Formats: sequence, C-alpha cells, structure tokens
Amino acid sequence: MEQSQSRNVIITGASSGVGLYAAKALAQRGWHVIMACRNLPKTKQVAQAVGMAPESYSILALDLASLASVRQFVEDFRASGRSLDALVVNAAVYKPRLKSPERSEDGYEISVATNHLGHFLLCNLLLEDMKKSSHPEPRLVTLGTVTANPKELGGKIPIPAPPDLGELKGMELGFKAPIAMIDGKKFKPGKAYKDSKLCNMLTMLEMHRRYHEDTGIIFNALYPGCVAESDLFRDAPKLFQIIFPIFQKNITGGYVTEEESGERVAKVVADEGFDKSGVYWSWATAKIKIVRRFVRKCLMRPLMRTRLLGYGN
Ligand SMILES: NC(=O)c1ccc[n+]([C@@H]2O[C@H](COP(=O)([O-])OP(=O)(O)OC[C@H]3O[C@@H](n4cnc5c(N)ncnc54)[C@H](OP(=O)(O)O)[C@@H]3O)[C@@H](O)[C@H]2O)c1
Repeated sequence: MEQSQSRNVIITGASSGVGLYAAKALAQRGWHVIMACRNLPKTKQVAQAVGMAPESYSILALDLASLASVRQFVEDFRASGRSLDALVVNAAVYKPRLKSPERSEDGYEISVATNHLGHFLLCNLLLEDMKKSSHPEPRLVTLGTVTANPKELGGKIPIPAPPDLGELKGMELGFKAPIAMIDGKKFKPGKAYKDSKLCNMLTMLEMHRRYHEDTGIIFNALYPGCVAESDLFRDAPKLFQIIFPIFQKNITGGYVTEEESGERVAKVVADEGFDKSGVYWSWATAKIKIVRRFVRKCLMRPLMRTRLLGYGN
C-alpha cells in the first residue's frame, strides 16, 4: 500500500488535449495526478513528452465505455492506498460522422455511454472516497461545453440539432438497440455528444444539490474555451478540422491552446477563489460577446420568427 502526503487528483482522459495539460499543470502545482486512461502506453509516452516528472503521476486503466472497467478502476485506485482530493470528469468522444450508432461493451450508444454513463458510475462510486479526504474542500470538476447549453450561442446551433433530452423516453426504454438517443428519437451523432455533455452538467448540479451541504465537497464545472486543435475533433470532416481553428482564432476569439485549457482546469481544481459549489466557470472573450450579440440579432431572431410562422423545422 502506497501512501502519499501530496494531494491526489484523478483525471479521466488524461492522455491528450485538455486532460493531459490539466495533468501537467496540476503536477506543477505539487499534486499527484492519477491519469485514468484507456491507452496506457500512449499515456506514458505523452506524459513524458510534456515533461511531467515520473513521481508526479501514476497511470491507471479506465475504459469509460465499459461499466466493468469503471468498477475495476475504482478497485485498483483503492488498492493504491491514496486519498482522493479531486476528480476531473474530462474524457469524451465526439463522433459526428457516424451513420449508425456505435455501441459500448454494455450495448449503449457510444457517446452517451462514454461521456455520461461511465462517468456517472465513476462519480457515484468515488463519492465515498472523496468523503474521506482530509482536504478542506475536495472538488469534483466537470468539463462542460457551450454546445450543451441551449441558452448559450453555441448551444443554439441547429446543426444537427440543439441538445434536448426530451422526456428521457430512450432511457426509459432501456437505451439499448434499436434505441440510440436519450429522447428516444432518430439517431443524430452530433446531438448524442451534446446530450451527453448536458447530462454531465445535470449530474454535477444534482450531486451538488444532494451532497454538497452534508459532505462539503465542491461540485462545479467549467468551459475551458474552444480547444479547436485538440483530438476531440479527430472524427470531424477534414475541412472542418482546418477551418474551425481559423474561425475560432480570428472571428470568435474563443480559441485557446491545449496548454491554456489545462491551466484553466487546474485553477478550478486547485486555486483559491474557485471553491464555490454548483457553479459553472467560463472565460468569455470580448470577441465572443460581440459575435453572440450579432448572431442573436441577425440570425437567431429571424430563424425563430420563421419557426413561429411554421416554415422552418
Ligand atoms: N476541445 C474543445 O474545444 C472543448 C470545448 C469544451 C469542452 N471540451 C471538453 O473537454 C474534454 C476533453 O476534450 P479534449 O478536447 O481534450 O478531447 P481529446 O483530446 O479528444 O481528449 C479526450 C480524452 O478522452 C479519452 N477517452 C475517450 N474515450 C475514452 C474511454 N472510453 N475511456 C477512457 N478515456 C477515453 C481520450 O483517450 P485516447 O487518448 O485513448 O483517445 C482522451 O484522453 C471533453 O469533456 C470535452 O467535451 C472540449
């Protein structure tokens, strides 16, 4: 059994993008990072490549698309003897080009299985470990996104559809084939991602409501900015992968580097001033505010009017 004096944080999906750079930033702050990943050789290689000191991290196998793997991960983590002072819900898949649903080991649609169901089980199991932390304010931090918030500009984009869980009909019916969407409607892979991220946010809020007062655990979320060059977009069309970073850098100004996004996560996990529970942190730029106002005035209002007149659906 290994014991550690430093603070311990589990980060899911720390083998690339936001998660990897959050791991680096937290290791630099003196935290021990448990990198919870599905590809162990890759994780070892990238941790070395970004210059993380070997004693600042450990790597544990976690495949969020398998509920058995989530349970095994929790057992392995407990066997390490480490305390748990923070958990970062970060890993995700985005598969906008799927023609038909891909299924997890347990038979669920892959985006919701990975991004929501796997994390939902993980958070609930690890809650017990976080309750035992000696940290004055253990934090459970969830990566959110503007596209999952129907009240934000990004969440209003109708391509393929805004996030919408409907009456949870798909879940009620068991969420296995032929069901692939939470609302039980037609499969739309891009929407499945948005729905799964909306579930992440609802889980965070519900955990805050149920457990914050009694446990003192901080449940919060953040939008890290638009990390337009991360691997998240690996399955998006090639043209999109070229244009999207240019658009985000020059038009919206919402672009952030992977390094900066990781630094933002580290702040929410470890820094003073981020100890509020039930909140969502975001770093909006002036450019984004201007674009948001423009789109609301020139695009969304006419679109809403068209809908009301019954022409567009
Ligand atoms: N990129 C953005 O602009 C943006 C904006 C807002 C929010 N976010 C959020 O930030 C988070 C990280 O995104 P990112 O941009 O850093 O994407 P990314 O570079 O693709 O990283 C995703 C991570 O999740 C891991 N992962 C995927 N499926 C998994 C599974 N079944 N089990 C365990 N790990 C799995 C990946 O592992 P492999 O290395 O093995 O593939 C990778 O480490 C996501 O929650 C995303 O929704 C991103």
